[in-house]
Amino acid sequence: NQQEFKQMMDAHALATNFYSHILLNTVEGEKALEYLEKRGFSRASIEKYGIGWALDDFEALSGLLKRKGFNMQEMERSGLCIMKDDGTGYFDRFRGRIMFPLWDDTGNVIAFSGRSLYEDKEVAKYLNSPETPIFEKGKVLYNLHNARLNIRKTGKVILFEGFMDTISADHVDVGNSVAIMGTSLSESHLLKLKRIAKELIICCDGDSAGWEAAKRFATIANANGMNIRIALLPNDMDPDEFIQEYGGEAFREQIIGNPHSYMSFIMAYAKRSKNLSYENDVLQFIHEVLEELALRPSPVERDLYIRQLSEETNVSVEAINQQFIKMAGNRA
Ligand code: GTP
Ligand code: MN
Ligand code: MN
Ligand code: MN
Ligand code: MN
Repeated sequence: NQQEFKQMMDAHALATNFYSHILLNTVEGEKALEYLEKRGFSRASIEKYGIGWALDDFEALSGLLKRKGFNMQEMERSGLCIMKDDGTGYFDRFRGRIMFPLWDDTGNVIAFSGRSLYEDKEVAKYLNSPETPIFEKGKVLYNLHNARLNIRKTGKVILFEGFMDTISADHVDVGNSVAIMGTSLSESHLLKLKRIAKELIICCDGDSAGWEAAKRFATIANANGMNIRIALLPNDMDPDEFIQEYGGEAFREQIIGNPHSYMSFIMAYAKRSKNLSYENDVLQFIHEVLEELALRPSPVERDLYIRQLSEETNVSVEAINQQFIKMAGNRA
């Protein structure tokens, strides 16, 4: 109900300030601040994105919420606190993590994602709030409230996998990005993206998982009639890593400013796992691209990419055309 929603959002606003205060103004926050600085976060980004530090303590936030008079059962349902096994009280869900607030579309904090300071495989890199009455992960497009104006102005929305990428892009004046948290793109995400901009630029991590995600996102977005481009990153890098390594200008011009069309992405995707000096790989490459082309209505596109295939493989345009017709025949 409304009353409970309000309490939960108030608690999240309080927690955001609390975590932020600890990061910025206390000795306990120094290690995390150092970590963020090493990763290139500016003070302005830290403040704009409400980043904080959760003490490595079981009762720091729970104690505060209790003192402020919040109903602790409600606080457990909000995901901030967890009830002790023996039922005698509550403890903090987030401990010893860098805290990133997650907002709804109008800018209310409704959840958190906490990053570990370590790359250690033993602990999860990110710990998120659970699904709660105010937080459904599948509905959150990270940064939408901040990016809305820039998205309108440019007519483009950039989609990243991770919120680190969004913060990093914003720092180099790419302010029209949002992130889903991971690689599952929901119906709700799609609907929002479709409504907000004429063009969607999909920019996933450059590792294999990212390429697969980009293919999936592109396919779904295409099926939804969206106008899409795909920005690709070199050498397994993610957008944040690229920006740290090559800077904002390179990111704006080479990556975001030069995105691939769907078919051009498909060419790159099909080529990625192959060695075109092997006959088998050549055949497979041509096959994969033709399969996609068969699904596209444009004869011009067909002509264009068949010629490109020919150039890249040294197989004649005639032979590829015949192959295409034969494949179409097999399907019919
Ligand atoms: P950094 O390694 O800090 O640069 O983060 P990243 O943004 O590069 O993360 P990554 O590409 O590994 O993952 C993208 C998104 O997936 C993140 O923003 C998270 O929301 C989510 N994710 C990644 N790892 C985990 C995890 O261990 N647990 C959960 N719940 N989510 C994760
Ligand atoms: Mn700066
Ligand atoms: Mn990744
Ligand atoms: Mn990443
Ligand atoms: Mn990263």
